[in-house]
Amino acid sequence: EDPKNSIGSPSLQSLRLVFLFVFVMDVAPSPALTAGCPDRCVCDDQLVVQCAGQQLSDFPVDLPLGTRQLIISNNRIGDLPALQLNYLSDLVYLDCSNNSLTDISESTFGNLRKLAYLDLSFNTLTQIEDRTFGPLASLVMLRMTDNPGLSEIHTDAFAENAALQVLDVSRNNLTALNISSLIALPALRSLGLSGNPWSCDCDTEDLCLWIQIEGFKFQGEMRFLLCDNLGLNIFTIFYTTLMCCLLKYNFLLCMVRSNKAN
Ligand SMILES: *[C@@H]1O[C@H](CO)[C@@H](O)[C@H](O)[C@H]1NC(C)=O
Ligand SMILES: *[C@@H]1O[C@H](CO)[C@@H](O)[C@H](O)[C@H]1NC(C)=O
Ligand SMILES: *[C@@H]1O[C@H](CO)[C@@H](O)[C@H](O)[C@H]1NC(C)=O
Repeated sequence: EDPKNSIGSPSLQSLRLVFLFVFVMDVAPSPALTAGCPDRCVCDDQLVVQCAGQQLSDFPVDLPLGTRQLIISNNRIGDLPALQLNYLSDLVYLDCSNNSLTDISESTFGNLRKLAYLDLSFNTLTQIEDRTFGPLASLVMLRMTDNPGLSEIHTDAFAENAALQVLDVSRNNLTALNISSLIALPALRSLGLSGNPWSCDCDTEDLCLWIQIEGFKFQGEMRFLLCDNLGLNIFTIFYTTLMCCLLKYNFLLCMVRSNKAN
């Protein structure tokens, strides 16, 4: 057999080259990304881009392709554009705290597989949907505090973040948190829940019980955890047990009491 046949005729090969060329041209980096440094930002040779407190109202353009740390805190940025953000596939550290972010979606972090640190604190987020952090397989620390209108985090929001060790959702507007999302995090060792108007009723019973069992890991935090509707600390085992049992079985207890009274 002529080995040339398996490679193809010269004309076919050049056709392939043309195809390859067109393909490469097609996926070439966006002009938004250059070897330069964004306006009003400082870039160093460690691929750290520092843009904090520059009164930026838009996500910076001209970010270096290999950016590893991006700090855009203390600005007025209202939107994280998925397309520009996801070109930064080497990003390890992203600080977006203290901006005007209102909406984060599944596509926002679609390609940031190396991201280990994400700070979304001091923004104006209102809800976190399913799979928002799904692509972030390396995420170790997520800070999402001080979003005064954040009242809903989807049960499966963290389901795929198996590496997550530190999760802080303090000082938001959360009333309930489905415990399934926390039990699913094998590496979790620090959890911030305080400063939320937790509503302790039958729906948060699972949270109470989990805190009772796993709470030793998070004691410092749990001491300050209050049930907004009851004015009770939910860490103390006595209260936790009492409360969870009372809330679930208070109908039965009332029956027992009225039986005794009889
Ligand atoms: C947020 O950023 C503004 C503008 O830089 C600054 O004045 C303010 O102190 C920051 N707030 C926090 C909580 O960091
Ligand atoms: C917090 O949530 C409650 C409803 O649970 C709502 O009435 C209130 O306006 C929210 N607070 C903020 C700052 O959005
Ligand atoms: C919590 O989420 C799990 C899984 O999505 C669901 O099966 C369960 O019913 C939820 N619990 C509450 C109290 O909503």
